[in-house]
Amino acid sequence: MLIHSASQLLTLAGGPQRGHALGTLGIIQKGAVVVRDEKIVAVGTTDELRNAYPDEPTLDAGNCVLMPGFVDPHTHLIWAGDRANEFEMKMGGMAYLDILAAGGGIISTVKATRTASMETLIAQTRPRLLRMFSHGTTTAEAKTGYGLRTSTELRLLKALLALDDESPLDLAITFLGAHAIAPEYKDNPQGYTDEVANTMLPMLKEWWETHAPRLPLPFVDVFCEAKAFDLEQSRQILTQARSLGFPLKIHADEFANIGGASLAAELGAASADHLVMTSDAPFGLAECHYTPARKLIDADAILALATDCNPGTTWNESMQFVIALACRAMKLTPAEAIAATTINSAHAIRKADTIGSIEVGKQADMLILSVPDYRQVGYRYGTNLVKQVIKRGRVYSVDVGYYRTA
Ligand code: NIG
Ligand code: FE
Repeated sequence: MLIHSASQLLTLAGGPQRGHALGTLGIIQKGAVVVRDEKIVAVGTTDELRNAYPDEPTLDAGNCVLMPGFVDPHTHLIWAGDRANEFEMKMGGMAYLDILAAGGGIISTVKATRTASMETLIAQTRPRLLRMFSHGTTTAEAKTGYGLRTSTELRLLKALLALDDESPLDLAITFLGAHAIAPEYKDNPQGYTDEVANTMLPMLKEWWETHAPRLPLPFVDVFCEAKAFDLEQSRQILTQARSLGFPLKIHADEFANIGGASLAAELGAASADHLVMTSDAPFGLAECHYTPARKLIDADAILALATDCNPGTTWNESMQFVIALACRAMKLTPAEAIAATTINSAHAIRKADTIGSIEVGKQADMLILSVPDYRQVGYRYGTNLVKQVIKRGRVYSVDVGYYRTA
């Protein structure tokens, strides 16, 4: 298939964009792409590729932007129920970690999730996933973490594997058994830490090798935070995970800076996530409620953006909204935010060699937007600008909140 007549083809070619390289879109005006068998086989101008592939079936991009599909590198996609009541409490002034300490927060979602069947979990998660897809997310990371005991954590993994199988969107799965101290261990956080490190992780490895032998091992993540797992407990879990061969992620410095970002660097984690309160060494903290993205760029970090979609802190399914917010709150340009949600976020889940850009040999995961200029992304919000999603070479026309094969 020859996709032609893109006003701007954003290739994002050249690999993850570190520091001030962020925002290199690699634009081809009047761009075109040839796709065969799920893969990109040619990238160029419409004139060039029409000449080179005269007999190829065509898809007209209609003088709109053609860009890589969004990669959402951090979500807590699978849970049961909602926490609209706590949202009201928070807007009334109560702090997130105080709600958690009072047995609400993550723990209230854990209660709802533990009692939900596989079918219920899948039925409640599926529409979120499809809405993400219709808003242009072609790959998403998805964490467990609302089970906090082996049986439920494994049910969440099973449900995620089933959703990955049935849906057009690809999932990169993460085990987050260390998302909060399980209620059974309320007064014994070290006991739960030992349980995760010494019992759950070895069991997970065995389970994964039987249930998903063809997939790479999942990431292992820890919520490293004052009222969750302290630095030493986080180190214990992540070190054990690493010795079992799992790639690592970490929730670091979200509410308090207790050293999680440095731990991520020390252990070679694939990403350190949140970093809202990361200290002056090495990145510098502006007293703000958003991650100091510009300082991370100045410090030569590879910046990626995610929805963090979860029922507690942010139920947002749209990477387009993330971009709009990052432009305004973190002072990113649209080009920087686009790179941070495609090639760089692919890098954060260690998939930058297969997705995140439009280059020959890569998986054909692309978006045709309904606008002619990439700067409309970020400028506009609250409206879905995605017209068509191309996933592994298949074209899906997006209607509001749903998708169908073209
Ligand atoms: O990334 N911080 C920990 N986990 C989530 C929130 C989960 C929840 O509140 O349910 C986060 O913000
Ligand atoms: Fe998170």
